[in-house]
This record gives sequence, structure tokens and C-alpha cells, in this order.
Amino acid sequence: MKIEFFDTPELLAQTVASSIIDFVIAKPNAVLCMASGDTPRLTNKYIVEAAKKNRIDFSRVQFVSLDEWVGIPPSNTGSCYYFLNETIFEPLNIPTTNIHFFNSTAGNLSVECERINQIVEDLNGIDIILVGIGMNGHIGFNEPGVSPDLFAHVINLDPITLQTGQKYFSETAAIQKGITLGISRIMQSPLAILLATGSKKAAIIKKTLEENISNAVPASFIRKHANAFVMLDREAASLLNK
Ligand code: F6R
Repeated sequence: MKIEFFDTPELLAQTVASSIIDFVIAKPNAVLCMASGDTPRLTNKYIVEAAKKNRIDFSRVQFVSLDEWVGIPPSNTGSCYYFLNETIFEPLNIPTTNIHFFNSTAGNLSVECERINQIVEDLNGIDIILVGIGMNGHIGFNEPGVSPDLFAHVINLDPITLQTGQKYFSETAAIQKGITLGISRIMQSPLAILLATGSKKAAIIKKTLEENISNAVPASFIRKHANAFVMLDREAASLLNK
């Protein structure tokens, strides 16, 4: 794992966006998996701007879902799908056949997990996984206490996630569980990028990078990834031992 520091969230987002664009130029049928949430919004904006300006062909890129709130349909503005559709899929005209998202309203969520696991296998894995970090150290919806051996699974959301998660919804959402790719899938991807910006992430970033690697802070497992990048703006890095 490597840590990279940026003066501003803009510089961080520009760098990540360029890496994604360069990867897609080199591999037009890349398989990408991207978090939703506040952190990647700027990165996604720069990806779209660069793709349009330089006419980068995203028509063969495949997108795999990282996570979704169980029971929340894609039409809900707080869903993970809605965010990615608004910031990436629609602006880049991604064919729906190239979008492989968790259906979190499926009757049988175990079958849904197997469906996504199989899709990832059929795609020969995910090339790049881009994750954010929750206030409790989750990545995807791999909540504190999660087994690092899991692939796609359903999980009870941690109280901190239940509380902070409401920020995405226009009305109070009845969220309790998440469906997510597991730590094993993140560890298997040849490139994993964790983004964190802002002072509110400083304490959890310190725990992630300086305390023991354990499921108490699921993001800490990324330190075992041979090709992971933790990209931090100055504020998110502000509590790290220099
Ligand atoms: C969302 C996801 C979450 C978020 C994390 C940070 O798809 O996987 O793990 O990345 O909760 O969210 P923000 O960026 O809103 O602080």
C-alpha cells in the first residue's frame, strides 16, 4: 500500500480521475467498481469532463456495484445507484448492459449476492476498485466486525452508518442492512484506491493507517493489499504521525 498526499480535494480528484481515464484508454473494456457518497463526487465530475473533452470511449467499460442500501430502489435519490447514474452512467452514456448493480429489493438477497459474484467472475475480476471510508472505518458496507473472508454479502449496518447514511436521503430512510462486495473481493482486485478528504475523516484515517490491522476498522485491511493507494487531502491526513 502507498499513501499519497494532496494539498486540496481538487488536486486529489484530478489525479484519481486522470488515473481512471488513462486506465480506460489503455484498456477500453476495463471493469470498474466505484463507491458512491460525497467523497468521489468531484472525482466523477473530472472523469466525465476529461472523457468528454478528449472523446474517451467508455462504451465498453463495465461497472460493478460496490454496495447498496437493502430495500432502497434505484429510483430513490439516496441510493448508491442513483448517485452513480447521475454522476457517471448517464453523463457517459454507459449502456445498461454494462452496469451490474446489486438489486437490493430482490426477494432473495443470497441469490443476488451469488449473481453479482458470478458476474465478477465472468468479467475476470474487477480491474480497479475505488472506495471511500465511513466515519466508522467501513469500506463499501464492510462494517466494523465484518469477516475479511467474505465476498458479496448482506450485513447489518453499524449505528454510525445508520446515522450518517441519512445524509443522502431527502426523507428519513428505513435503512437497516447493506448489500456489499466483501473485503476478499477488494483484496483480489489488482488495484484498490481509497479516497478520504476533509477534517472529519482525519481520526478514522489515523486509526486505519496507524492502529492494528483488524476488522475493528475494516479499511485497515487495505494495508495488506499489494497495490493499494490511500489518497488523502491535507485535512484528512492532518492527524497522522509525520
Ligand atoms: C458508498 C460506500 C461507503 C462510502 C463511505 C464514505 O458506496 O461504499 O463506504 O464510501 O461511507 O461516504 P462519504 O464519501 O459520503 O463520506
